[in-house]
Amino acid sequence: MGKNKLRKFSEMESMECVFQYPFGILREKGFPMKGSWGRDYFGNDNPIVLELGCGKGEYTVGLAERFPDKNFIGIDIKGARMWTGARQVRDRGIKNAAFLRTSIELLPHFFSPDEVDEIWITFPDPQMKKVTKRLTGTRFMDLYRQVIRDNGIIHLKSDSPFLYTYTQYMVEHNGFKKVTDTSDLYHDPQGVSDILNIRTFYEQQWLDRGLTIKYISWHLDHATTLSEPDVEIEPDTYRSFSRGELQCPDKC
Ligand SMILES: C[S@@+](CC[C@H](N)C(=O)[O-])C[C@H]1O[C@@H](n2cnc3c(N)ncnc32)[C@H](O)[C@@H]1O
Repeated sequence: MGKNKLRKFSEMESMECVFQYPFGILREKGFPMKGSWGRDYFGNDNPIVLELGCGKGEYTVGLAERFPDKNFIGIDIKGARMWTGARQVRDRGIKNAAFLRTSIELLPHFFSPDEVDEIWITFPDPQMKKVTKRLTGTRFMDLYRQVIRDNGIIHLKSDSPFLYTYTQYMVEHNGFKKVTDTSDLYHDPQGVSDILNIRTFYEQQWLDRGLTIKYISWHLDHATTLSEPDVEIEPDTYRSFSRGELQCPDKC
């Protein structure tokens, strides 16, 4: 491991806003703040919003600064990326944001039923081959329902036509109530809200290559019996190009 990564990991150990919990300890002792993040970390009972696969945590930090009456937690398995957001939270004295280094699959170990109010999923890998790995697939909807309140909102921001189309089908097929849906966020005739204008690291890279950004959000109810839509979706061809050679096809 590079020196820089090691330095970041060691700095994160001492940051109050960062929680890193090896699975062994989690299995043995459980997470002490499960069900009490509000009382024990944030010191209030404001709504809790998660950013999954947060990378450097642009949404976690950006939303926390805009909404002091909500609490934000960025979650990612990669600590070196998370360090960027965690340092901003520490250095700017942001009290309503934290970072949790873990796998998304372990969410129910860290949060009680109904403890979460909203979930943001920002530029995930579309997982075109494996629906069970897709963060907007029904396996993950089932997982989110174990921690989010009934009808809590899920937000997806993505560069991927494949993932966006799949998610539209998934939402419609399961009868979830849509909040917003746009296939070209930054050219939407209704304009872009301040919240959606927050740009993540990956997002900026895709924008620099001329891709359009998609955004869809919906209410995730607890009652629906989840099922996968039976659809064939054309894969994103641009993802197989190396970054330097990326050429955007017309339908990006
Ligand atoms: C393509 S990056 C996007 C990062 C960031 N949201 C952005 O837009 O710049 C996807 C992120 O999801 C994280 N990730 C993927 N699968 C995960 C999982 N199962 N649990 C936790 N993090 C995961 C990766 O480590 C990576 O940082």
